[in-house]
Amino acid sequence: MNRFLRTSYLVACVAGVGFFVLSVLILGVWPGRVLEEETRRMSPEHPLKLTASEQRGRAIYSKEGCAYCHTQQIRFLKSDVIRFGAPTLAWETQFDYPHLWGTRRIGPDLSREGGVHSPDWHFSHLYSPRSIVPESVMPAYPTMFNGAPDRPTQEARDVLAYIESLGRARELAGPEGEARMQAASHQMDDMQVASPVLNASPAKARRTGTYSVIRYHLIGQTTHADRGLNVYNRHCAGCHGSKREGDGPGAKGLLPRPANLTEHDYSRERFSFVLWNGVAGTAMPAWRDLSKEDLDALADFLAPAPSTRRVRPPGVPRMMELGRSVYAAHCAQCHGVSGEGDGSAARELAMLPSNFHDIAPVNSAILRAIRNGVEGTPMAPWTAKLTDAEIIAVALVIERREWE
Ligand code: HEC
Ligand code: HEC
Ligand code: HEC
Repeated sequence: MNRFLRTSYLVACVAGVGFFVLSVLILGVWPGRVLEEETRRMSPEHPLKLTASEQRGRAIYSKEGCAYCHTQQIRFLKSDVIRFGAPTLAWETQFDYPHLWGTRRIGPDLSREGGVHSPDWHFSHLYSPRSIVPESVMPAYPTMFNGAPDRPTQEARDVLAYIESLGRARELAGPEGEARMQAASHQMDDMQVASPVLNASPAKARRTGTYSVIRYHLIGQTTHADRGLNVYNRHCAGCHGSKREGDGPGAKGLLPRPANLTEHDYSRERFSFVLWNGVAGTAMPAWRDLSKEDLDALADFLAPAPSTRRVRPPGVPRMMELGRSVYAAHCAQCHGVSGEGDGSAARELAMLPSNFHDIAPVNSAILRAIRNGVEGTPMAPWTAKLTDAEIIAVALVIERREWE
């Protein structure tokens, strides 16, 4: 009896230690090895590490608790993939130690945030989120600035550098990287969900001249008269101002300034395109998260049907002739031979020159743009090169949209 008891202690002890070792192996060591192996297999050959400034930004991001509200981990869920892009793979965060994946999704996922917004957007937002997004619950970080959103400290610049690095590795991996990942993946079904999706966030503002290459929702008519105003006040007034004059509380730190919407007529195509893609090179974001009904309501509110548009001024033949020659000599290389915004120099610019068939500014706005330029864009002032008569004449050509 005594001996039997003694051996049973021994058996229990050995079994206990054995199971402990087994569980450490199965739950601790083995998953780590699998993860390492998967990271090695799917990672691009030479993944880019963070620069010094990005590293500092990462430390601030961690210290300020940004990860308590923002995840960096796109799930294999349709809703996540549509909004943020391809699901996060293990290798993307291989240098992320300790990781900042986060668990609470109070704000949007930031794993592909690089390139989604312009620097001036980020600074204004960080300085005071509610000036840009009126209903935001994100705290303001004014201590990272010298009193104004356009005077960031090194801290704010570092945070921006870090944000801009998010998603970069995946984008740089490009199509070859994607093919490599597909081939190496064990989860073919999940990967197929992700494969037609861009590596970058779909919300990234896209700069493109032809509307046909990127899918967008052509905005239709709505039946709700005040819905447009509501949507406008919730999402647009922070920048474009409650009177639509481009002077909202968020406008101060932005260059170029938000457009004065009362001074321009937009074609439906342009308006739809802008809401779907944002305006690359400016703080104007893409608005794909709004419902179709909201987009329709906005369009009716801000871009009424062509029949209600302004009448054009009469064209005086001699002035039109002068205007056309000034235009051909000075403006066509950017704005295009007949005002389509597709001039030979347009390709080199960070933002596209206006297409005057899609955007019709009022006379005073045209004159102001020519005389003062548009700050924060490649559109320079022309008073040093053109006489006042030439300026008035070329403005008339643009207003009448008559290039021949
Ligand atoms: C209390 C929660 C909370 C904290 C803390 C927080 N955020 Fe946010 N953040 C939000 C919410 C909610 C939004 C969405 C509304 C908005 O855009 O302001 C947001 C939006 C953002 C966006 C815009 C995302 C997009 O594409 O629209 C960025 C970038 C961002 N936060 C960065 C940060 C950084 C950097 C920090 C830390 C310095 C931080 N956030 C801390 C809640 C938070
Ligand atoms: C973060 C600030 C910001 C917010 C919010 C914003 N905009 Fe803009 N928007 C801008 C800026 C900056 C421009 C100027 C772009 C330029 O100069 O071409 C602009 C330009 C525009 C234009 C003219 C685009 C063109 O063809 O050049 C339209 C139309 C417009 N916004 C509509 C909206 C609507 C509708 C909303 C709300 C759903 C909205 N914006 C919200 C900053 C903003
Ligand atoms: C270097 C290229 C370039 C040249 C040359 C140029 N522009 Fe522009 N122009 C731009 C860009 C880019 C914009 C878009 C600014 C924006 O969207 O905010 C613009 C915008 C404009 C606008 C619209 C402002 C508004 O309120 O929407 C007018 C009007 C204009 N240009 C007239 C002219 C005239 C007239 C000339 C020739 C005398 C000219 N531009 C030459 C690049 C150029």
